[in-house]
Amino acid sequence: MRASDIIVKKRERGVLSREEIAFIVRGYVDGSIPEYQVSALLMAIFFQGMTPEETGFLTREMIDSGETMDLSTVPGPFVDKHSTGGVGDKVSLILAPIAAACGVRVPMMSGRSLGHTGGTLDKLESIPGFRTDLTPTRFAEIIGSCGFAMTGQSREVVPADRQLYALRDVTGTVESVPLITSSILSKKFAEGADALVFDVKTGPGAFMKSRDDARELAQSLVDTGAGLGKKIVAVLTRMEVPLGAKVGNFLEVEESLALLRAPAALDRVPVDERSDDLLEVTLRLTAWMLVAAGAARSVEDGLERCRGVLDSGDALSRWEENTRLQGGDVEETYRRLGTWRAPETTEITAVRDGVLTGLDAFAVGMGSVYLGVGRSKATDDVLPDVGFEVLRKPGSMVRRGEPILRAWGHSESALARAVDRVQEGITIEDRSPGDDRGMILEEITAL
Ligand code: URA
Repeated sequence: MRASDIIVKKRERGVLSREEIAFIVRGYVDGSIPEYQVSALLMAIFFQGMTPEETGFLTREMIDSGETMDLSTVPGPFVDKHSTGGVGDKVSLILAPIAAACGVRVPMMSGRSLGHTGGTLDKLESIPGFRTDLTPTRFAEIIGSCGFAMTGQSREVVPADRQLYALRDVTGTVESVPLITSSILSKKFAEGADALVFDVKTGPGAFMKSRDDARELAQSLVDTGAGLGKKIVAVLTRMEVPLGAKVGNFLEVEESLALLRAPAALDRVPVDERSDDLLEVTLRLTAWMLVAAGAARSVEDGLERCRGVLDSGDALSRWEENTRLQGGDVEETYRRLGTWRAPETTEITAVRDGVLTGLDAFAVGMGSVYLGVGRSKATDDVLPDVGFEVLRKPGSMVRRGEPILRAWGHSESALARAVDRVQEGITIEDRSPGDDRGMILEEITAL
């Protein structure tokens, strides 16, 4: 077999065999096929695409390039959730303890902030003492004890993805549906999941900005995952406005705990300050996890069970148990709630009277990077105590000078830059408030 023949075959719209895909992936990882040939093939795939079967072969080869988590000491089934990334997306922090309290085992391998989107690992590490570098043995033990564990990806898991992703990043081939699909699925299956629920976000703050692109990715994830014998659900959700009321690292832990600690009290909170959108997305995704695990008969039944463990405090107990098992200090976390903030603060206010019609998630995400919530380059450190509180959501009437967001940062210059960026994303118009629209756009299932 020759790499050049495989490149030509794909360039001419051919369908690659399992052997051809294996030859390329193995050759790339062992160094026998040079980067320039893999780059050329990636570009051919970018333009000509792949069938679900080819994408499945690629996924399998990528999984086999490294180690997989051994969860054989823990009874399954194992179900995880993956989000394609958003702003204010702290769903994993709430969903995992709820699912675990409902009897589902959740092996969660998460990532760090990327571009304007936040990262679950960065949020978790803002919890004092919390460790996200679990060994495979400890990962399995913690799942066995409290039902879920949250870790980063070790270098041994899917090395082919690490190499391919780095090459895609510099060859203009990131935005390819089959390459994204194999990249995501290989990592999720390597962590030991039997079933997966995807939150495919769409809108200005998402990776897939258009709904058609998001649907195409969702369908590809479902088709390829199902072809590999797994249960898959993909939910398309809105990412036009930051999700929930806080954007930051510890700020998002705070908001997650507010939902886990006192869900019933939310009814007494003014509507603008509530996390209704966050709760809607979180409960829907968790309910599908229950269905996929066989722990609920239907998504409605799943929703009821999720609300039950939130109201009873069982989900909060799971969070406390997991946090302690992962080295986190629960009491210190509670002490810091509402007070752990960077010293410089300012409000971002309405520039005129009217209806707030837009609060662009991308602008808020970029502003949060300037504050230090995320990274501008891979080697940057993130800060735990900076970010935004969203005080008004689109649909609200606002008066000139009224605060729409509050920001915290470590320097006046960072704050000024962030405020300018967020202001560009605020739209206030003269019209009546629109209807409140639900967060769930479409659902694609293979169960
Ligand atoms: N996230 C991934 O894990 N892989 C991609 O290719 C794109 C987004």
